[in-house]
Amino acid sequence: ATTPTPADHFTFGLWTVGYNGADPFGGPTRAPLDVVHVVEKLTELGAYGLTLHDDDLFAFGSTDAERRTQIDRLIAASASTGLKVPMITTNLFSAPVFKDGGFTSNDRAVRRFALRKVLRNLDLAAELGAHTFVMWGGREGAEYDAAKDVRSAIARYREAVNILTQYVTDKGYGIRFAIEPKPNEPRGDILLPTLGHAMAFIETLEHPELVGLNPEVGHEQMAGLNFTAGIAQALEAGKLFHIDLNGQRGIKYDQDLVFGHGDLHNAFSLVDLLENGAPGGGRAYDGPRHFDYKPSRTEDENGVWASAAANMRTYLLLKERAAAFRADPEVQAALAAARVDELAQPTLGAGETVDDLLADPTAYETFDSSAYFNGKGFGFVHLQQLATEHLMGAR
Ligand code: GCO
Ligand code: MN
Ligand code: MN
Ligand code: MN
Repeated sequence: ATTPTPADHFTFGLWTVGYNGADPFGGPTRAPLDVVHVVEKLTELGAYGLTLHDDDLFAFGSTDAERRTQIDRLIAASASTGLKVPMITTNLFSAPVFKDGGFTSNDRAVRRFALRKVLRNLDLAAELGAHTFVMWGGREGAEYDAAKDVRSAIARYREAVNILTQYVTDKGYGIRFAIEPKPNEPRGDILLPTLGHAMAFIETLEHPELVGLNPEVGHEQMAGLNFTAGIAQALEAGKLFHIDLNGQRGIKYDQDLVFGHGDLHNAFSLVDLLENGAPGGGRAYDGPRHFDYKPSRTEDENGVWASAAANMRTYLLLKERAAAFRADPEVQAALAAARVDELAQPTLGAGETVDDLLADPTAYETFDSSAYFNGKGFGFVHLQQLATEHLMGAR
């Protein structure tokens, strides 16, 4: 069960395994990988799909013929291997034209160009059969407060997303959008920095039902946030449209490590949530398990494929450990002692009104709050230790 198959729905960005090792301090350490080779290797490793930016497949500024050749090569490789393309996205960050962003550049001509690039890429998404369109606004932001009117920038972001949702609706594309938050990098501060900011923004759109989230493990952790808790809130709101799995060690630059090669406890609780729901529920998320990581620049091509396999194996191992955790009678007893289930019970009874609550002396007048001093604890630490032992394979 730790050998990946397409039924596990593991997907990889073309830019992930294709990363050439360049960083702000040094150039590439590996040659670029051809898309057909990537499709074949991912199929061999048991992946379900490949995802991409337009510019991963054909360089920015390609002629129509060059673009078409690359698309046709991908379509042929996908048809012969069965590897799917369930998500695509647009690169609005690498080319110099996007130095101040795409949808929210101060330069209106750049904003119009960005919209055209995305609209063209939506047609490609439909052609490739992708039903999720990710929007990571890496350059949408600023370094200096006076340089960006954030209120206008949010209004322009909204204008852009409204245009795009109307476009897919008019075309009948059946595509949904997933906004990917990130607090910073490459901009000093990026708009919609966390999933909470993005969720609030989505509610202001003309077609909020077509727009959800693509949260990335490392991005929330760069903001010091608990990724599993954020995912739970996104699920509760029906907004988990896609997910970027990777690893990050604390509040620092975006590491894009292999999934689990960071906060392993949080990776365990995340897989438990996605696979088992919270508590006792079924599977909470059915979409692709998408890895957005960067094989370290120290690695050769063998290391690239080893790291791709590592993402999937770690996920499947955590899935096994999470199942064992849930099946352990001692865990069930600890969950019951911790009254985790009780939180699902509404605070007022069925039909009970606030007047009924005010009239209930057991809720206040005779309720003994002093009994909680030296009273029974919840045993959360014991529960966490059981999780830790399952995670370590010690139970
Ligand atoms: C990052 C981001 C990007 C986006 C990708 C999709 O690491 O900063 O995750 O990798 O996910 O570019 O647009
Ligand atoms: Mn990242
Ligand atoms: Mn990402
Ligand atoms: Mn990334």
